[in-house]
Amino acid sequence: MTEAILLVGGKGTRLRPLTVHTPKPMVPAAGVPFLTHQLARARAAGVEHIVLATSYLAEVFEPHFGDGSALGLRLEYVTEDEPLGTGGAIRNVADRLDSAPGDPVLVFNGDILTGLDIAGLVATHRDSGADVSLHLTRVEDPRAFGLVPTDATGRVTAFLEKPETPEEIVTDQINAGAYVFDRSVIDSIPTGRAVSVERETFPGLLADGAHLQGMVDSTYWLDLGTPHAFVRGSADLVLGHAPSPAVPGRCGERLVLEGARIADDAKLTGGTAVSAGAVIGAGAVVEGSTILAGAVVHPGATVVDSLIGAGAVIGERTVVHGSVIGDGAHIGAGNELRHGVRIWCGAVIPDGAVRFSSDQ
Ligand code: GTP
Repeated sequence: MTEAILLVGGKGTRLRPLTVHTPKPMVPAAGVPFLTHQLARARAAGVEHIVLATSYLAEVFEPHFGDGSALGLRLEYVTEDEPLGTGGAIRNVADRLDSAPGDPVLVFNGDILTGLDIAGLVATHRDSGADVSLHLTRVEDPRAFGLVPTDATGRVTAFLEKPETPEEIVTDQINAGAYVFDRSVIDSIPTGRAVSVERETFPGLLADGAHLQGMVDSTYWLDLGTPHAFVRGSADLVLGHAPSPAVPGRCGERLVLEGARIADDAKLTGGTAVSAGAVIGAGAVVEGSTILAGAVVHPGATVVDSLIGAGAVIGERTVVHGSVIGDGAHIGAGNELRHGVRIWCGAVIPDGAVRFSSDQ
């Protein structure tokens, strides 16, 4: 079967502070580094050889995944001295590919959670004879995305920047971050400098008359680039709404990893994941949230749609709603953190220091 390149070298700035100590693909979702889900899905589709293109915090991938044999994969790692962008990263790993010119090579962004029919994308590529095939997904509000219109046969007709006026919204199809490249197209990307596949390679190929084929697959799709989306994605994995063979347990309202301690009357719902060594105190309510290793949620606290970093502490009766608490942060008792607030790693907030509502 086809081999694959996984792009995992981005700085993950939108996900800070989660990505201060951990590259985005290694942040746990449903109890395991997010990348595990992508590797397992690729393996389930028959992919055996995967090259990881690393850059930011590159040193953490190999100690965790090793040669990949635990997942039935053959993994290789290539680190960029300077970040080369998505296209530069693809070109930079070309000498590790076994494929010959004319063979298809899969490329995945390392931050997408999707039920994409991977074999279907490869089949579309072969059947259409395209130079590059792209997974496209439809979004309700296309204003935040570059758009990818196609003709009646699915052939890409343009790569459009984010639309600024209603007339510019000519389609609801966007680039979903999974591609099949003809091996020879990878070899044609310039070496030794940063290249964006989205902004340079694809529009350039189109201008040169290459055949780029879109495959619209409207299955589950989520870009986990922001804290809100990351927490949603983890909860969807736990609930079984997003497909992955790598969820370490049965899907349901909660996933509690071995070594976590949960008080009998704590309430865990909505796809909450609790990592090893975390503690949830008496009467605490945790809904749709991700609690990372060694974090402590004290009695009576409420955590909703939030991510609590490794070793962070949430004080008694504190409310955390739609927010991110960085690794090792310490939130005192009786605080109220809402509306996407990001508490930095190691920050200390005293008891009763932050409120959104008046005194109760
Ligand atoms: P933000 O900084 O929050 O935009 O995140 P990001 O750095 O991950 O960028 P983006 O989401 O656009 O990246 C898409 C995919 O490409 C992700 O899987 C990144 O890990 C990967 N990526 C982005 N830039 C590079 C790079 O320079 N080198 C490598 N190897 N991968 C990259």
